This record gives sequence, C-alpha cells and structure tokens, in this order.
Amino acid sequence: MQVAENILEKAVIGGKLEAMAKILVIHGPNLNLLGTREPEHYGQRTLADIDQRLQELAASEGHGLESFQSNAEHALIEKVQAASRQVDRIIINPAGLTHTSVALRDALLAAAIPFVEVHLSNIHAREPFRQRSYFSDAAMGVVSGFGPLSYELAYRAAVGSLAAED
Ligand code: DQA
Repeated sequence: MQVAENILEKAVIGGKLEAMAKILVIHGPNLNLLGTREPEHYGQRTLADIDQRLQELAASEGHGLESFQSNAEHALIEKVQAASRQVDRIIINPAGLTHTSVALRDALLAAAIPFVEVHLSNIHAREPFRQRSYFSDAAMGVVSGFGPLSYELAYRAAVGSLAAED
C-alpha cells in the first residue's frame, strides 16, 4: 500500500523497532495571526506555540513532523503537491479556504495522502457560510472546536490511524 511504503524510516523507541511516521501540518490564511486574531474564537496561543507542542509530541514518539503556514492558496497547493509520496498523513486547517477552495481540495485528492481536517473553533456553531467545508467529506475525520487541543487530537488520530494499519 502506498501509505505503508511511505514509512521508510525506522526508529528504536524503548527498545522496540517502530515505524517512524512522517506528518505534515498545514495552516491556511491568517493563522499566522493566532494570539492576537479574534481571541474569542481562536484563543490566546500563537501558531508558534501550537507548532512547538506538536513538534514535541511527535519527537517524543519518534515521528517526524513538519509545519507549514501560508496566506497564499497557491503556496498551500504547491506544498501539498510536493508532499505526494513523501508523507504519511496531513493535518490541515484550511482556515478561510475551508469554505471556498475547490483547488486545495483537489490538490489533497491528487496527492492521495490521507488527511485530518482541523479547526480551532466549532465551525458548525458559527455563521452559516462556515458550516460548509470543501474538505470534510474527503477527510479521514474532522476535529473542530477544541482550540489548540484540536491539533493535538488530530495528531493522535493521524498517528493512531497509521498504527491501526500495521
Ligand atoms: C478556522 C475556521 C474558519 O472558518 C476561519 O476562516 C479560520 C479558522 C478555525 O480554525 O476555527 O480562519 O479554520
């Protein structure tokens, strides 16, 4: 299986030989402003805090994790295209593009990398236009509404789903 083939590297963890997963975390437009941006919706934590926490989690489990943020749709699409056959799972918060971007959705489907959709806020409890996602039906699952914890839960789901394949 392609996903299994992507797990090329092995790490010795606690004396056991474990597969090392490669996880790509993608943050869409305006998430670089976390910490100051509408804290009533998105909380006080910065994107750097969130990425550092994910990095620590992954490192403690011997997995590789890279984070990428862009405000440009084309840059996000190019990142997803470049990830094809290189990573095992994508965790993505498409941010405002959740509700608009057929092109970013198409890139994820073309890359054929299973992905988890993440939102800090509960998009279903907000304005009607936020309740439509171009990603949810193609995602492995969606985590929405738990603030920065949404990302940790998505990480757990992404890594857990790889373990379930073994
Ligand atoms: C968001 C929700 C989106 O509706 C919004 O445009 C964002 C952030 C979230 O994480 O809650 O930018 O994806």
